[in-house]
Amino acid sequence: MASLQLDAVFKSFGDAEIIKGVDLEVKDGEFVVFVGPSGCGKSTLLRLIAGLDKVSGGHIRIGGNDVQALSPGERGIAMVFQSYALYPHMTVRENLSFGLQNFKLSKEVIEAKVLEAVRMLAMEPYLERRPRDLSGGQRQRVAIGRAIVRDPQVFLFDEPLSNLDAALRVQTRAEITRLHQRLKATMIYVTHDQVEAMTMADRIAVLNAGKLEQFGTPEELFMHPANRFVARFIGSPSMNVFPAKLKSGGATAEIEAADFGTLTLPVDAGDLPSGTALEIGIRPQHLRPTEGAGAAYTVSYAESIGTETYVYGNMAGTSDEIILHIPDHRKFVPGQVISVAVDPSLVHVFRADTGVTLPARP
Ligand SMILES: Nc1ncnc2c1ncn2[C@@H]1O[C@H](COP(=O)(O)OP(=O)(O)OP(=O)(O)O)[C@@H](O)[C@H]1O
Ligand SMILES: [Mg+2]
Repeated sequence: MASLQLDAVFKSFGDAEIIKGVDLEVKDGEFVVFVGPSGCGKSTLLRLIAGLDKVSGGHIRIGGNDVQALSPGERGIAMVFQSYALYPHMTVRENLSFGLQNFKLSKEVIEAKVLEAVRMLAMEPYLERRPRDLSGGQRQRVAIGRAIVRDPQVFLFDEPLSNLDAALRVQTRAEITRLHQRLKATMIYVTHDQVEAMTMADRIAVLNAGKLEQFGTPEELFMHPANRFVARFIGSPSMNVFPAKLKSGGATAEIEAADFGTLTLPVDAGDLPSGTALEIGIRPQHLRPTEGAGAAYTVSYAESIGTETYVYGNMAGTSDEIILHIPDHRKFVPGQVISVAVDPSLVHVFRADTGVTLPARP
């Protein structure tokens, strides 16, 4: 097992700069998830770590050693792809042991490693089957087994569950988490599913257009997103965002926001002048209907799924759809106007120009 460091890593394909200076330090034994929208560079970054592509700038260190000059085979890395990449004409046993001969291991050692991996993955009954006679979930487990038998310093997973149906995805997700706890290996796991990221990761790296937006624990990202991009990417449904304006900064920031009137918020506006364009963000769970004073909200429609209700509608001052997530069963009529309120400590404030979050007041 080993730590992994990325130092100002850049990657261009021709004129196109795809990875734009990523710094990241993954601790020994940590489970780190890379998330971000399609095309942001997640797979490219994994391929650079694996050595399947060469960096255009910067350094990658595994266990403290610069791996620039090492081939993929010498880096002590095993990668599991979305497409399982199994050998179709080989049995599960052969798929798992193939390539281990190159590590100068005895037959007995190889056999023991293969048996240990299939036991870990509950695949013993399938040792003599070929991939075409296995389900998608079983094939993916063989692909994971092939990584396990190599005893890599770092495991890399590139969206390994996206070909599985929803139920199997949840089950395999739990298996990978257990595998991590058991092997205590350093793992990097790519997904664009933020629920997978939130449930599996020790820390999450949010990538956007080749840049690292934030690197932190799931809780840090959810509670204290560094900017609007992370705020909207993490959490489902996405955070609602409203235009706002700084009225006065200093000890208590007074912020005028859409239909909420003037909010006194526990954020530090620094030396931003009054009138600065801001945005406020409120999660659907934190915007609650109230009988008392609040902002007017017009319901378009509502979905009640037993124990919870999602309401879709809009508010004066913003053209975007605003979503409420209510933790019980409630009935709403299209066109109904209700009053909504928010606890000031749950409001996020961003600069409109840069999207950066205003820090909470100490
Ligand atoms: N060999 C290549 N030559 C040119 N462009 C490439 C190459 N590989 C990737 N790209 C480009 O780099 C960008 C990032 O691709 P990458 O596969 O890393 O995205 P991703 O975050 O993994 O997306 P997805 O979630 O869809 O898998 C894309 O715009 C892609 O077209
Ligand atoms: Mg990808």
